[in-house]
Amino acid sequence: MAESLAEAVSRRRTFAIIAHPDAGKTTLTEKLLLFGGAIQLAGEVKAKKDRIQTRSDWMKIERERGISVVTSVMTFEYEGNVFNILDTPGHEDFADDTYRTLTAVDAAVMVIDAAKGIEPRTLKLFEVCRMRDIPIITFINKMDRESRDPFEILDEVEEKLALDTAPITWPIGRAKSFCGSYHLADNTVRAADTQVAATPVNGPRAVADRLPENERQAFIDETELAIEACRPFDRASFLEGHMTPVFFGSALRNFGVRDLINALGEFAPPPRDQVADIRTVHATDDKMTAFVFKIQANMDPNHRDRIAFARICSGKLERGMKARLSRTGKQLGLTAPQFFFASQRQLADTAYAGDVVGIPNHGTLRIGDTLTEGESLVFQGVPNFSPEILRRVRLEDAMKAKKLKEALQQMAEEGVVQLFSPEDGSPAIVGVVGALQLDVLKERLMSEYGLPVSFEMSRFSVCRWISADQPADLDKFLTARRGDIARDLDGDPVFLAQDGFSLRYEAERYPAIKMVAIKEYH
Ligand code: G4P
Repeated sequence: MAESLAEAVSRRRTFAIIAHPDAGKTTLTEKLLLFGGAIQLAGEVKAKKDRIQTRSDWMKIERERGISVVTSVMTFEYEGNVFNILDTPGHEDFADDTYRTLTAVDAAVMVIDAAKGIEPRTLKLFEVCRMRDIPIITFINKMDRESRDPFEILDEVEEKLALDTAPITWPIGRAKSFCGSYHLADNTVRAADTQVAATPVNGPRAVADRLPENERQAFIDETELAIEACRPFDRASFLEGHMTPVFFGSALRNFGVRDLINALGEFAPPPRDQVADIRTVHATDDKMTAFVFKIQANMDPNHRDRIAFARICSGKLERGMKARLSRTGKQLGLTAPQFFFASQRQLADTAYAGDVVGIPNHGTLRIGDTLTEGESLVFQGVPNFSPEILRRVRLEDAMKAKKLKEALQQMAEEGVVQLFSPEDGSPAIVGVVGALQLDVLKERLMSEYGLPVSFEMSRFSVCRWISADQPADLDKFLTARRGDIARDLDGDPVFLAQDGFSLRYEAERYPAIKMVAIKEYH
């Protein structure tokens, strides 16, 4: 019998892994994909990265700096559930990309290095998840190495993140003696991920002999203490974002990953409701709705293609259907939506709420776009951050100005940079959140468009989107400050200021003008 929409939706788990670089996100992703049979051998995620890198020139940057620039989605099935992992770049210079990706998930796995605890990026990403009430499962990784005391790590999570912790498992041993996990609530143990079902035991004492003699008593004491003193897991509190279930493991050595994937299936929520301008959209609503949170161009340089990643928010997407693009009101044929697996793409004949599909297009779709089956609604909340760095692009060959304009427009539509066109007709200004984005822009302008460029300081360093309740107030400001006004890609006005001081000064002089640092796509 065909699966009902409600059934299909309830099997979806769409999540991101958040971590400070080096905590083990890539390794964990790889192990999760292995469980789902999406890859055969560990190493393919990295191997795949390398392959893409050798094919695509601009990704040299990634290779040289050892960072992951590209976000993508990977889908796999495990025990009846469909998991969509949305990958996020670890480097903070690509923070805007990461934040937008987090608008498309229903849960997150927070990976913490057991020796290092909460690191700065973990904290920042956690804050974004909290803002959006995204429930978080914690995975304390690298227990096979010298690590901090588990209680100390839990305390740190509670204190730094103001998040209740509920350890589900407890590590049996540490570093060299680490040999599995003890499930606190039901007194079972699992030696390694290869062991499918956990074995019931009669309390921590019963497994202590797996450890060297001098570690046994300490293990018994702390595990008994954990059973007694730690908070029991409360799913409602987890779903509200107040509590995190905690797992200890080693992604590299295959410990704890099975516990984690089981928890994703059992605890993590199915696709959530999404807020749109005219109503709240429920995942099980019949009609298909989706929004674009990322654009990626030239994933396959042979095709010069452009893929829009769309998160389906409700209903069912079927290949060949027509969708309405809310920004323009125009129809768009979804002739070749794609699913992404670790090492391949596949045409998506049917996709359900929670799934992420890639939609090939030639610039029709932009970040923040909403697709529907006809309804005129727009999803809220895909953020656009005001750039930290503003630059003018200097072209070495002045004859190619038109080509540069087109290329910049495309890069801006993809979200690589933001583009601001000054009202006074002076050359466009590009804005980025992190300096590495400028390197990516330079590299891509050269390799994809044959345009050698350099960057010049602009006289502006701060940028704010402006609006006013009364159109007359806005007009007055736009006229008075014409030399400092530019339009973004959507034609929305921004005020460019020399520095924070002049920004505050103008804000005080023109109290009717709202100046905001984050714009939501519309
Ligand atoms: P990231 O994506 O969060 O940046 O981390 P990644 O998985 O690349 O892991 C960073 C380093 O930590 C890698 O070592 C990886 O092998 C190691 N690692 C990940 N999980 C564990 C674990 O559970 N235990 C131990 N001991 N190490 C772990 P590398 O030497 O930097 O890279 P590689 O050459 O091994 O790939």
